[in-house]
Formats: sequence, C-alpha cells, structure tokens
Amino acid sequence: MSERRLIAIAQGTPASDGAGVKLLRVIGTEELDHIDPFLLLDEFRNEDSKDYVAGFPDHPHRGFETVTYMIQGRMRHQDSVGNSGLLIDGALQWMTAGRGIIHSEMPEQTDGLIWGYQLWVNLPAKDKMTAPRYQDIPPEAIPVARSEGARVKVLAGEWNGVTGAADTLWPIEYLDVSLEAGAGFTKEVPEGHSLLAFVYRGALLAGSAEGEHEIAERHLGVFAREGDSLSVKAGAEGAGFLLLSGQPIGEPVARMGPFVMNSREELMRAVEDYQAGRLAT
Ligand code: CO
Repeated sequence: MSERRLIAIAQGTPASDGAGVKLLRVIGTEELDHIDPFLLLDEFRNEDSKDYVAGFPDHPHRGFETVTYMIQGRMRHQDSVGNSGLLIDGALQWMTAGRGIIHSEMPEQTDGLIWGYQLWVNLPAKDKMTAPRYQDIPPEAIPVARSEGARVKVLAGEWNGVTGAADTLWPIEYLDVSLEAGAGFTKEVPEGHSLLAFVYRGALLAGSAEGEHEIAERHLGVFAREGDSLSVKAGAEGAGFLLLSGQPIGEPVARMGPFVMNSREELMRAVEDYQAGRLAT
C-alpha cells in the first residue's frame, strides 16, 4: 500500500445560483474548474430564509448526474414530465439527467436551517444521452458503518465491507464521515482515481510531501492520484467531512451552464433541443 498525499487545499467561492440561493461553490470555480469526473460541488448552508427560499425554479440539465445530499432541511423537486419527490433531512438524491431533465428544486428549512450539498458527476460519452433516472434515497436506507471513533454514512461505493445506497453508472465513491477528536480514518482508493475531502465540521489532518497539513472547516483537500490508500486524522474538535473518489473519464469536457457534453456542437444541439421543447420528453 502507498499513501495518498495531499496536494492542494481549495477555499471555494461564495456564489449565488437559481433564483438567488446563496452558496459556497467549491468545485466549478476559477480556482478549481473541475476534477475529473467531478464538475461542481456546492454547499448551501443558510439560516436566513431570504438567502434560499426562492430556490432553483425550472431549469434543464443534460449530459451528467446531479447528486443532492441534505444534512438538514428539505428539498422538494418536480420535473416537466410529472416526476416529483421530497428529500427530507439526511436524504440523498442521485439523479441521472442523461439526455435531458427540466426540473425545479425548492429548499424548505427544518428548525431554521437549510444545509446540503449538490455535486455534479460527469458521464462518459456513451452514457450522456441515456434515459433520465432518479434514485431518491431516504435517510433510513443509507447504510452506516462504524469503527473506533468513526461513523460513516456510505452514500455510494464501499467502506469496511458496507456497500453504499446509490447505484452509480461510473465508478464513484461518496462517504459522509464523522470522526471523534483525534480519531483516524483509512480507506483504500484505486490508484489513479481522483480523491477529495470537503471538511464541513472541525478540521482534518492529512499528510503532504512537506509533512502534516490541516484542512480547515469549509475547505476542500485535493489528493494526488498516486497511491492506493488514504489515511487522515481528525483535529482536536473532531471532524465531519465528505469524501469523494472517482475514476477520471478522460474525455473532452464542453460545458455551458446546465449542459455538459464532449463538444461545442453537442452543446449547441442541447440548446436547440431545449428551445424547441425536445430536451425532456
Ligand atoms: Co437541477
């Protein structure tokens, strides 16, 4: 086994999307455009309802997947062909937009707070025009694995012999890890896969070429693709973090707003299909 080393820490950029939802954009910024196969990561974490209540009214997607994970608060979704659902506190939605979905995503607070994440996962060319699919996974269906000082919700992939809730088209792992103060966490990760950790509570200590570094709250740690084992440790306040790993797709990325394809021609076709009412039928 060889250790994955921390190579960068990204801070994210405060942004606004949808109809004025305030969020922290962690991937999909000037600082960090994308990390193959991850195209975007947004944290929305607002106590003031005016910062999110207008939500994300009807908008299209084509060519990738959106993954919405609610820590606290609810998200009501509805699409143009009649699918709808309500993600409650702790729920996960793995939505394959494929050839096209037009939907709305409207947040609703629980106890004065909305706190969740939206991740965009790219799809390889062969799957970009696949049929749309929803996996709405309630909190009780997300497996929880434990070891000393660690509690791990396995959203996708595997940890300690526990298999995740979501079925993914492309090899992706997504864990929500809670560590007690000073507790360690290890995971095997295939050599060559992208590996990221977004700290949402406390701090995480990870080894780099120069020694141990702290990944502070609301920062993203990016690890080298060399090595097949991750080993990190919580700081004195403990740590909560989202761990993401995925096999790079290695194809050209052409992106424009809610469409992510392989070429400019395909983007133009997506716009035409949307304008002609053919995107989601
Ligand atoms: Co959307």
